[in-house]
Amino acid sequence: MANNRKIIMDCDPGHDDALAIILAASEMSPLKIEAITTVSGNVEVEKNTLNALKVCDVLDLEHTPVAKGADRPLIKQREVAEEIHGETGLDGPALPELPAKEPAEAHAVDVIIDKVLNSNHDVTLVATGPLTNVALAIKKEPGILSKIQEIVLMGGGTFGNWTPAAEFNIYVDAEAAKIVFDSGVPITMFGLDVTHQAIATRELMDRFGDIGNPVARFAADLLEFFLKTNEKVFGLEGGPIHDACTIAYLINPSLFDFEHVRIDIETKGEFTYGMTVADMSGVTGKQPNVKFARFLNRDGFWELFSDALKSYG
Ligand code: RIB
Ligand code: CA
Repeated sequence: MANNRKIIMDCDPGHDDALAIILAASEMSPLKIEAITTVSGNVEVEKNTLNALKVCDVLDLEHTPVAKGADRPLIKQREVAEEIHGETGLDGPALPELPAKEPAEAHAVDVIIDKVLNSNHDVTLVATGPLTNVALAIKKEPGILSKIQEIVLMGGGTFGNWTPAAEFNIYVDAEAAKIVFDSGVPITMFGLDVTHQAIATRELMDRFGDIGNPVARFAADLLEFFLKTNEKVFGLEGGPIHDACTIAYLINPSLFDFEHVRIDIETKGEFTYGMTVADMSGVTGKQPNVKFARFLNRDGFWELFSDALKSYG
């Protein structure tokens, strides 16, 4: 993977968003975080912006701009996931009431447009929340379409976690997702099919905590809360750290297997709103538009994550 590959992380921290930032900012990562932009998702955008700033404080990312974005979906009413991430959106770790950093003055959408337009086709958008900001940026400045290197997103899947058909990030703003998936920009998608292969267990949580440095402890404290809520709400055997898959791919693509498939976003269905309709067998005859992650090398993933935490020592 090219060194210093520029990324913008559009996110809604959120425990697994925070773990993705930890991975991206570690010494195991060749990525340069140009900006972190926040979007209404797991919790209101005001809260998740504070969370992103606090994560930057923990990681000493004092020069990484954090810009607040959309406070609601394009059309639908806002929907949040406090039952998974807690009232603050980052419940669990003991964090200061207020962050040391201030957010950027500019709106997240303008930061995305500015960074992409002023790049020479070398900015990757990593989206780990609802796609409202990305869709707004595309609509506001279509000129970015030819300059975005890749959109790497966590969302969707062949099954749902918020409805039987839809995953949370897509469900919260399916209209935005449709704009992004129909944009023609190269999309690499990490849906529930693969992120449910990245389930952090208590054994892994303890292993990370034993690493002993403050960031590893922070990650373990995030997982302590995240495991409980995922076990309680979804009946899982731990906490799938969905969003971290996007960064693991950018660091080491060989950890995943992919298929190129056609995906359309359902925005009208009474029971299927927000579904990523994946044509896995090519029956539509439509041109594939997504590099769809199917399988994860679990051991390699957790080794990378553990090495990333150790690198903060
Ligand atoms: O469905 C999982 C996704 O929704 C993750 O990005 C999680 O952070 C929440 O945003
Ligand atoms: Ca997220």
